[in-house]
Amino acid sequence: MEEVGKITESTTSSFIFRAEKEIRKHDYVKVGEVLAQVWEIKQQSNGVFAYAHIIGSESKRYMARSPFKIGSEVYRAEEHFIKRVLGIGREGIYIGLLKDSEVKINLSPDILIQKHACILAKSGSGKSYTVGVMIEEFIKKDIPVVIIDPHGEYISLRRPNLDKQEMYIMKRFGIRPRGYTKNVYEFSPVCSKNRTAIPLYLEETNLSFQDLLNLLPNATTVQKGILYEAYKKAREKKFYFLKDILEEVKKTKSNAKWNLVPQIEQIISMNLFSINYTSINEIIKKGRCSIINLRGVPPYIQEILVSLLLTKVFEERKNDGIPPVLVVVEEAHRYAPERGQGKSFAGEIIRTIASEGRKFGVGLVIVSQRPARVDKNVLSQCNTHIILKTTNPNDLKAIVASVEGLDAKSAGEIQMLPVGIAIVAGLPLPAPIFVEIRPRETLHGGKLSEI
Ligand SMILES: Nc1ncnc2c1ncn2[C@@H]1O[C@H](COP(=O)(O)OP(=O)(O)OP(=O)(O)O)[C@@H](O)[C@H]1O
Ligand SMILES: [Mg+2]
Repeated sequence: MEEVGKITESTTSSFIFRAEKEIRKHDYVKVGEVLAQVWEIKQQSNGVFAYAHIIGSESKRYMARSPFKIGSEVYRAEEHFIKRVLGIGREGIYIGLLKDSEVKINLSPDILIQKHACILAKSGSGKSYTVGVMIEEFIKKDIPVVIIDPHGEYISLRRPNLDKQEMYIMKRFGIRPRGYTKNVYEFSPVCSKNRTAIPLYLEETNLSFQDLLNLLPNATTVQKGILYEAYKKAREKKFYFLKDILEEVKKTKSNAKWNLVPQIEQIISMNLFSINYTSINEIIKKGRCSIINLRGVPPYIQEILVSLLLTKVFEERKNDGIPPVLVVVEEAHRYAPERGQGKSFAGEIIRTIASEGRKFGVGLVIVSQRPARVDKNVLSQCNTHIILKTTNPNDLKAIVASVEGLDAKSAGEIQMLPVGIAIVAGLPLPAPIFVEIRPRETLHGGKLSEI
């Protein structure tokens, strides 16, 4: 073990040591059986002094009740010790290396599914790239994934990453270019714009009253009443469709129906439904990563589709009709906006999955470049946080508020993160860590346009 210095000042949560060896910011050090991390280094006339935060010890029950003795020896922490204290397993979702080390960071897929995750950063900081890395790992583990993909950028998971620069650094991370052609399925409601996609149609037969309310979230109480009466009448048939509901609505005497009729007609005209609907078992299957490509779909229709699809996923999971699944929601501020930032069709079901999904094996990965605009109730249910460079003060505030272990100092660090470095916080880590995100095995979709 390499001694790097001796303690000159100490509290129960941090200490200062005089560095006798080269020490860098974010280095891990060890005092006795306790792990700590250097967060600041000061050059003074009488030497170099490093400020370290105590993380904890292997027993996890460690809570310092008295400070370290002045003069205690500080050692460089070995990798196996760091891994043990941080609780990083040998297996899992391999997202990258602990910064400036060879320690592989593997996140537990169970924790990710049961406790949800969020990836937050400003535009162009590497969110989708990191999501791609995670999905590659989920595919390898045969865990089904569904991606709400507004830009159609995840289809490239089929193709290997042959970027020369990235291939050069792959070695250090122990990975190789690889495409997941067989696992990646693309679905889209507008195949004229997404020619490689399988048509995505929703089931229209015998919609429940809740489905109707999801389709018409702006219905007034009176309109809801009319809708319920129409639904009850339509239900007298063995099979009923939206047009049957429409006919029943038209028959009612109340004048309030005149606002409802065009809304239902508009939904019918969207062609989202068909008797040849896409089975949920085709979308969610072991070893399958399904991309819901929404490129070219008007926002209003996107929201309806996301709402109905996720409702179906949740219901089917409750009935054990499909295996446990990870749902990735890109641009989450659009689909699950903070209240007061606009109404969304999909907000309700995303909130429900965020709070109850864990019970039924529906995991969420929330991705957004505007954390301040994402529903706080959804963000607060995410237990693993992957934070990349963020500069907007409101977004920084939202991140610091929702992530345990981050403070004002961390906000400064987040603003300066280079592309490819993430702060990962939350379960199972006792303290936030800096991770060099590994290169993608597959081609990154953001780069498709360059080819
Ligand atoms: N870990 C990484 N290693 C190498 N390059 C990266 C990494 N992360 C991001 N990049 C580069 O940064 C670019 C932007 O990344 P990405 O598309 O993931 O951003 P984003 O945060 O999803 O942005 P937006 O909010 O606009 O969708 C990528 O095209 C890629 O070249
Ligand atoms: Mg992106």
